[in-house]
Amino acid sequence: MIWTNDTTRLLMVAGSSVAYALVCLAPYLRTRRKRLVAARAKAEAAATPDTVWIIAYASQTGNAEELAQQTAATLKLAGIPTRLAELSELSAVDLQQAERVLFLVSTYGEGDAPDGAAAFVGRLMTGSLALPQLHYAVLALGDSAYTQFCGFGRALDQWLQAQGAQSLFPRVEVNRSSDAAIAQWRQQLSHLAGTSDAPDWSAPAFDEWRLSERVQLNPGSPAAPVYHLELEPVGGVLPEWRSGDLVQIAAPADPARPREYSIASIPTDGRVHLLVRLHTHEDGSHGVVSGWLTQSAGLGQTVRLRLRQHKRFRLDGNEQRPLILIGNGSGIAGLRGHLKARALAGQGRNWLLFGERNAAYDYHYRAELDCWQRDGVLEKLDMVFSRDQAERRYVQDRLAEQADGLREWVAQGAAIYICGSLEGMAAGVDAALAAALGRASLDDLAASGRYRRDVY
Ligand SMILES: Cc1cc2nc3c(=O)[nH]c(=O)nc-3n(C[C@H](O)[C@H](O)[C@H](O)COP(=O)(O)OP(=O)(O)OC[C@H]3O[C@@H](n4cnc5c(N)ncnc54)[C@H](O)[C@@H]3O)c2cc1C
Ligand SMILES: Cc1cc2nc3c(=O)[nH]c(=O)nc-3n(C[C@H](O)[C@H](O)[C@H](O)COP(=O)(O)O)c2cc1C
Repeated sequence: MIWTNDTTRLLMVAGSSVAYALVCLAPYLRTRRKRLVAARAKAEAAATPDTVWIIAYASQTGNAEELAQQTAATLKLAGIPTRLAELSELSAVDLQQAERVLFLVSTYGEGDAPDGAAAFVGRLMTGSLALPQLHYAVLALGDSAYTQFCGFGRALDQWLQAQGAQSLFPRVEVNRSSDAAIAQWRQQLSHLAGTSDAPDWSAPAFDEWRLSERVQLNPGSPAAPVYHLELEPVGGVLPEWRSGDLVQIAAPADPARPREYSIASIPTDGRVHLLVRLHTHEDGSHGVVSGWLTQSAGLGQTVRLRLRQHKRFRLDGNEQRPLILIGNGSGIAGLRGHLKARALAGQGRNWLLFGERNAAYDYHYRAELDCWQRDGVLEKLDMVFSRDQAERRYVQDRLAEQADGLREWVAQGAAIYICGSLEGMAAGVDAALAAALGRASLDDLAASGRYRRDVY
């Protein structure tokens, strides 16, 4: 019995100790279980397709697109599934089903959306859409030299707020690719994704190129001088690019933003050709980069340059279509790149409409255009010289006269490419195209990649 009594006492002591331990442990176990459940729910949520984060970009020359790719890479590294899409690829349903969307958008024209986002603006931003479930953030790219700084990013942010969407953190505005603002965006991302190991983002480095050739194309012209330049990589290895792409040139000994130039050649030329117009400020001083490239830099001088894919202006997807190429001034650069690609591909259904001041001085690349006409690369050529007659005539006026031909080519599947001045030419040409084809048809052409612009 003694044994039994002792055992019972022992068992009772042990039992109460366990009970005591359980009472003490219970809150800990409850918290732990909650944490495990929450962690499992988070993991499941991350794995289900409807919690994919959408990274939507609207970019004209690739900056916003590049940052969108880096954003997606950072989130992927944190195990978050992402969908990278151009803004216009998103439907109302996409937005209504999405829980998290990160928008990276630049601004063009006078506070406008990039061309690739026009369809999104027309389809969605002109109306209302209930988006109470949506959490979003906006990275707005712009340049404070423009009066409508980050105009499109701001308009998009306001529209999202008006639809009931909730911002994850305040809009980040990037002035001329400022590193500090991009670092701020990266920091917010790391915070959201719960990582501290976001890879460093750096823009592609500039390479050293040599200025190998420079010829003024319009000596004697009353217009500003225009130069044909040829550059070769100092390292000797020519990188790949496609017609329609751009280069960025770093300002010499100047922390200013790099300047963009349309490439006027294709890789089989062995060199990057540019057409640079000398910019002169009101006080008579020269533009920083155009002055350096065309006046002060000597032949053989090293130039810091990087290639930029300009997907929105490439031939991609339009290779088999007839092309209508329209431009003015230095805009012949981007159109010449395309004509060279067409000549190489043996594609002769090309119509060039081009405007400058005087035929006697400003008929850039005349011998080459004559050859292309003779060889069947240029089926139609309309040169419009604004000051060769009493009244001023521009490329958009010729376009209006050629409305029947334009409709015929478009009916045959043609794609339209515009290169040159934003002011004057691009708006006038857009109006002439809309008058001939109808605004809705022109919008459809833009949405399907058959109306592409490189205007500045
Ligand atoms: C997509 C694209 C393609 C282009 N393609 C071509 C091309 O093929 N050929 C060509 O000749 N040009 C092209 N340009 C224009 C080119 O990039 C330059 O803008 C041009 O050469 C003038 O540069 P600059 O350094 O000589 O002049 P800048 O010294 O930059 O002066 C030009 C103007 O910008 C203003 N400005 C300059 N810096 C500032 C500042 N910090 N703040 C406010 N305002 C400022 C000046 O007041 C002046 O009105 C293209 C531009 C773009 C965007
Ligand atoms: C023709 C042209 C018009 C522009 N208009 C504006 C503008 O109105 N407001 C602004 O903030 N930035 C403007 N910008 C600056 C661009 O938004 C900025 O360079 C941006 O980094 C471009 O990004 P992207 O390469 O993704 O298109 C303009 C740039 C160009 C070349």
